[in-house]
Amino acid sequence: MTAITLPAYAKLNLTLDIIRKREDGYHDLQMVMQTVSLHDDVTVTLTGGDGVVCRCGDIPGDESNLAVRAARAFFAETGVEPCGLEIEIIKRIPAQAGMAGGSSDGAATLRALRKLLKPDLPGEELERIAALVGSDVPYCVRGGTALAEGRGERLTTLRDAPRLHAVLCKPDFAIPTPMLFSRVKVSELWNRPDTPGMLDAIHRGDTVGVLSRVKNVFETVLPTEYAGVFDIKERFLRLGAEATAMTGSGPTVFGLYRDEEAARAAYEALRSGYAQTFLTQFV
Ligand code: C5P
Repeated sequence: MTAITLPAYAKLNLTLDIIRKREDGYHDLQMVMQTVSLHDDVTVTLTGGDGVVCRCGDIPGDESNLAVRAARAFFAETGVEPCGLEIEIIKRIPAQAGMAGGSSDGAATLRALRKLLKPDLPGEELERIAALVGSDVPYCVRGGTALAEGRGERLTTLRDAPRLHAVLCKPDFAIPTPMLFSRVKVSELWNRPDTPGMLDAIHRGDTVGVLSRVKNVFETVLPTEYAGVFDIKERFLRLGAEATAMTGSGPTVFGLYRDEEAARAAYEALRSGYAQTFLTQFV
């Protein structure tokens, strides 16, 4: 086998809480993560030559691309002899959106390289390498419903959350993650998610309990220039969403629905004003 194509799924934060600022400047987080059906397609081909070539639509395929960094980390950490690679990414997940699109491409690259070159590499080892590539990459390797702690790399797999329809709506601006973290004073955070309650609701398969606990603490520190996030949340509520929140450090907002037709109607209504609107479901 010399080539493989894998889906690289987007994620949502059902919850996002910030626990403390660490000595290294990063923050310890607590996040309940959920994979959704929106995905990129990542094809990794062993070329027989040398060097890594990455094509990724409009996004640079250079060393800043997490798929390229993942390939470098794979060879450096596994001891597998580096060989020529082509990584072709069909992008559907918007960049800088809070949906871990880049991290997911990196994770799919790692999974593809394992399949092609070292099928006996244990999952834990792949996740350890993933953490060297980026905080969200281990979760993207594992997928599903999971609690992510630390910088995001400490994972606990949870029972699958109840299957819900998720409409994703990305406004036409980006929110710089470091700026958002710099506004956080952990002791002054308010309106934080009830993470234990969310974990319990997921464990019990309590759909209403899950819906009622969807929350992202970053919304409480958003500067007013990003109020567009709240406009979308309001739209979702008027469109019957049973929960709505920003995902990650934004700016994408999602609305959750039990009813597929209601989700579709919200998707149709929002996409006339927001080009980057997606109708997805939990996977
Ligand atoms: O992970 P990423 O490189 O996107 O993070 C960008 C910045 O966000 C970091 O340099 C850091 O300032 C902040 N950050 C943090 N705690 C985290 C993740 C990111 O403080 N868990």
